[in-house]
Amino acid sequence: MRKALLIEQAQKVLKSNDLGTWTRPAPGLYPHQWLWDSCFTAIGLGHYDTARARQELVSLIRGQWLNGMLPHMIFDEDANHFTGPHVWQSHLSAAAPPGIETSGITQPPVLAEAVWRVGEQMRKTERQRFFAEMFASLLRYHSWFYRERDLHEDGLVVSIHPWETGLDNTPPWIDEMTHNIEPVWIRLVKILKLSRLFDLFRQDTRLVPASDRINTSVSLLLFHVQRRLRRKHYDSLEILRRSHFSINDVFVNSILIRNNQILEDIAHELGEEIPMDLRTSFKKSRAALEDLWCEEDKRYYCRNYVTREWIRSPYIGSLMPLYSGAISRQRAAILIKQLRDDLQYWTKYPVPSVPISAPTYHHLRYWQGPSWINTNWLLIDGLRQYGYFHGARKIKDASIELFSLHGAREYFSAIDGTPSGANNFSWTAALIIDLLSEK
Ligand code: GLC
Repeated sequence: MRKALLIEQAQKVLKSNDLGTWTRPAPGLYPHQWLWDSCFTAIGLGHYDTARARQELVSLIRGQWLNGMLPHMIFDEDANHFTGPHVWQSHLSAAAPPGIETSGITQPPVLAEAVWRVGEQMRKTERQRFFAEMFASLLRYHSWFYRERDLHEDGLVVSIHPWETGLDNTPPWIDEMTHNIEPVWIRLVKILKLSRLFDLFRQDTRLVPASDRINTSVSLLLFHVQRRLRRKHYDSLEILRRSHFSINDVFVNSILIRNNQILEDIAHELGEEIPMDLRTSFKKSRAALEDLWCEEDKRYYCRNYVTREWIRSPYIGSLMPLYSGAISRQRAAILIKQLRDDLQYWTKYPVPSVPISAPTYHHLRYWQGPSWINTNWLLIDGLRQYGYFHGARKIKDASIELFSLHGAREYFSAIDGTPSGANNFSWTAALIIDLLSEK
């Protein structure tokens, strides 16, 4: 299919999910506004409607907490969905914004990247106005990370729920949660095989096959952890003070580091200053990424924040330091070798979210194996930063091929391209527009 037709097809998906000032990730399954979804969506929109792209990002600010956090979800109160305001009860926190219901945790901070990419499509005066409109919120958001999520002041921020990573059932988190805080009742559900009972209450598996989604016992665990956070009113200091479990996530830290850099670029273009203490934290973060490098396994891993032990489970996040731009060429070369290994990530339709040789790999189960277009997009960028254009090209071509064969599906088997999850998924459409629009 010709490029223009594909772009048109992807634009139709975004239009069908457009709710006026923001875009839902997909009909039915995801009716609310999600933070990083809107960022990716805006990057696509920016290619043909900068005014609408601007609105998509500005609309995120309405959910910003008084402490600076951008919540991972802003609820559409008319939507009937299993994770709505009744589950989160954000009003329990004094830091929640008045008059709007949101979740109480964040998501990977790709907002500065989205602001920058949309700005690139604007004329200089329009861009500067837009940057100025977003700058204070971005500054408050990045400051929140370092104030509330880097208590040791070592430059690595901590995440408190796998939903904060955007990779809900990613193996390193599931292993760690099961090991550290799985309550007895969930263990019993597993042993007595009672999950079928809970399956009756699942909304998501009425919309997509259960075998492609998170399994029920892991879902129960995710909601169990969410309730613990709610009990502490989403107060990071309270949560971390008595935490049995929280993680220095390599995916989140890599994304934050890159976005810190982009925030500095935005400040530079505006002739604004980033406060000195924040700049110091940015610098510390770049160096601290090395603390997540395990020399023995030659991989970057997540680290348990409490025990400070690595979680030696390789996944897509182990490659994401490429996107950070903060690692040395030697480290990048090692990661690229792993990426280009047929037994790990270099499949017909890369990049699988877990290496295909890992015992935790599952070819269609959500973040446990399939290829996703947003992580591909981040890796394409990372590979280009280190000059590996050939590898970036293969991932780009495979992503476009998946879209042209199957449309804007949520994720795809890395082995044979089988499409899975939601239909008409916004970020798939938006990022394909971006990839196709490149010169
Ligand atoms: C799922 C994904 C998350 C995404 C959300 C909406 O929870 O894991 O990354 O933001 O759906 O698409």
